[in-house]
Amino acid sequence: MPTKDEVMALLSLVEDPELQRNVVDLGYVEDLRIGNGTIDVTLRMSKPVTPLRQAVGDDAKARLQDAFSSAAEINVDVVGPQPASAQRAARQSASQKGPGPLPGIDHIIAVASGKGGVGKSTVATNLAVALAQSGASVGLLDTDVYGPSIPTMMGVDEKPGFADGKVYPVHAHGVSLMSMGFVVDEEDAMIWRGPMASGAINQFITDVVWGELDYLILDLPPGTGDIQLTISQKLSLSGSIIVTTPQEVALADVRRAARMFAQVDIPVLGIVENMSYFVCPGCGHREEIFAHGGGRASAEKMGVPFLGELPLAYGVRASGDIGIPVVISEPESEHAKAFMRIAAQLSEILAGRV
Ligand SMILES: Nc1ncnc2c1ncn2[C@@H]1O[C@H](COP(=O)(O)OP(=O)(O)OP(=O)(O)O)[C@@H](O)[C@H]1O
Ligand SMILES: [Mg+2]
Repeated sequence: MPTKDEVMALLSLVEDPELQRNVVDLGYVEDLRIGNGTIDVTLRMSKPVTPLRQAVGDDAKARLQDAFSSAAEINVDVVGPQPASAQRAARQSASQKGPGPLPGIDHIIAVASGKGGVGKSTVATNLAVALAQSGASVGLLDTDVYGPSIPTMMGVDEKPGFADGKVYPVHAHGVSLMSMGFVVDEEDAMIWRGPMASGAINQFITDVVWGELDYLILDLPPGTGDIQLTISQKLSLSGSIIVTTPQEVALADVRRAARMFAQVDIPVLGIVENMSYFVCPGCGHREEIFAHGGGRASAEKMGVPFLGELPLAYGVRASGDIGIPVVISEPESEHAKAFMRIAAQLSEILAGRV
């Protein structure tokens, strides 16, 4: 008879096509029994079992049969979410009235800044991927209609699926994605007027089939205008993360963004200081190009958590440009670890553990 390790090794070749990760890493293997002439496997999905998900079980069974059918009878059961998570989803739909979280989504978090170009999309992308790598189900919605960055930063140039008036997200690096960049050319979107842009975001909020998610991360455009208000009015966000660079001019914008969230009763979950310092890869010398420490000081002044500092690093920019977020392309680097620490801190804050 095969050993548990041999069976697990084969199961680790079976991928969930929606999450593009193998069923062992995803924690689907709930039960594995090797008896007298039988191998019984239970795969528990975090989402309802659709035909596509059933196919994951068929793939597992086929691989086990190829390897061990002469030694054992193989059974693979695919089951849906735990009762607790089903209850949670039901509770969420029942409590939905007016603005509220989308059913089946635990936390919606906006990544925002008053100022452009400070690294919102970079932070949103790497946080989403880091959370997904920790085993969570994660969606990433690019709400920047005029300058969508997510298709480039996540390396996808794919059309979402459309059926029965619903939109099905695209998947990359273990994250479900939606962006205006998948649907229209950037030049076309540039000429849209405000109401069209808000309408498009509305549709993304109501018509996208996200399924069950632990986190839906929103990459906001810079500023405190229409789009940000539409989102705030439509959804009850768990909170926002404000990204800033360390210098005084950027910090004035942090205060403005924080005021906007306060007006619509959205808590600021924390502040991230991006481009906090630069370490020369040649000589190790550290430079604080845009000053340093302003993000932490603002967080303290506002009484909100400081989530961490991210260095200015060649790899962060290059990874964004090639569409492989740095937490995947250089997972051992200081800058990737800084993103992972921020993701871990965020999930602790949302779980109410800090
Ligand atoms: N820590 C970093 N190190 C190096 N490059 C970075 C870092 N953070 C962001 N960048 C680069 O800076 C540029 C702007 O970043 P990004 O697009 O994430 O900012 P943004 O705030 O989303 O901009 P916008 O306001 O236009 O939406 C990108 O080229 C990105 O790769
Ligand atoms: Mg952006």
